[in-house]
Amino acid sequence: MIATARDPLSDSPGALPAHRSRLLAALIGRTGDGAAWTVDFRRIPHWLVVGATRTGKSNWMATLVAQLAPQRVALVGIDCKGGMELGLFSPRLSALAASRSEAVQLLNALLTEAAYRMMECRTAGARSIWELREELRPVPIVVLVDEIAELYLSDGSKEARAESAECATALLRLAQLGAALGIHLVVAGQRFGSELGPGVTALRAQLGGRVCHRVHDPATAEMALGDLSPDAVSVAQNIPETEPGVAVTTVDGHWLRARSLLTTPESARACAEDNAHITPRLTVLAVGSEQ
Ligand SMILES: Nc1ncnc2c1ncn2[C@@H]1O[C@H](COP(=O)(O)OP(=O)(O)O)[C@@H](O)[C@H]1O
Ligand SMILES: [Mg+2]
Repeated sequence: MIATARDPLSDSPGALPAHRSRLLAALIGRTGDGAAWTVDFRRIPHWLVVGATRTGKSNWMATLVAQLAPQRVALVGIDCKGGMELGLFSPRLSALAASRSEAVQLLNALLTEAAYRMMECRTAGARSIWELREELRPVPIVVLVDEIAELYLSDGSKEARAESAECATALLRLAQLGAALGIHLVVAGQRFGSELGPGVTALRAQLGGRVCHRVHDPATAEMALGDLSPDAVSVAQNIPETEPGVAVTTVDGHWLRARSLLTTPESARACAEDNAHITPRLTVLAVGSEQ
């Protein structure tokens, strides 16, 4: 009998691809050639995930969280739409900012943590937390930002402008410092372009991992893929609407189509609850959250 060739990007592509699990690595889905689609923060420290509404960004984050939840990793959420998306994972989050003013506090707290980690490394003569002795090594932190535009856009008031400028500066600084200090960013949004202000290109330069679901506006596709893989820009724009979860990602200078595993809100919530007991408590992050 001839085996039926399955499309790895279809709804029922068969068994999961093999994936070697290690700290800060997550199996996200499959690439077009059936191989494992992984995110490994030790290889690529920060990620940008874009896509129009209902193209699979939240699912992508949920899959990532489900993979990281059992690991010794602190997960921190910034979700300025009232925490509606990332709130699902709250039992497993070490902090959650649900408004821009909370986000400012949280990002500043993360910068304090970064400064502390830098000092620890300097004292030990280490260039990154991974060179510290295991018992001295702080827990890695993955900061998930849903709908980045909410952090940047302002209603024009002086306070709002100051707050978004502070967010932009803090986020860029964290991206610049974080890689060596075990502080990683995942930035998701519908749009990622110059309307977010002059700092956005500098931030993009730090976000080496790129995932571009179907997008309407060429500027966002260009921002997500254009600098690393110009050919991929039109591929991302032509992903059919009927294929949520399909994205274009760049790997070592070339692009691939890939599809995330489906993680339902129920299974994401259950996974967060199952792993709630290992949620790291980071006292420096207690500001601006309920914990
Ligand atoms: N990898 C996937 N496989 C199958 N369906 C998916 C996948 N990702 C998303 N979907 C479907 O698309 C819908 C919208 O996805 P979602 O992640 O909420 O989009 P976004 O956050 O971009 O608005 C989900 O409710 C789900 O039904
Ligand atoms: Mg979403």
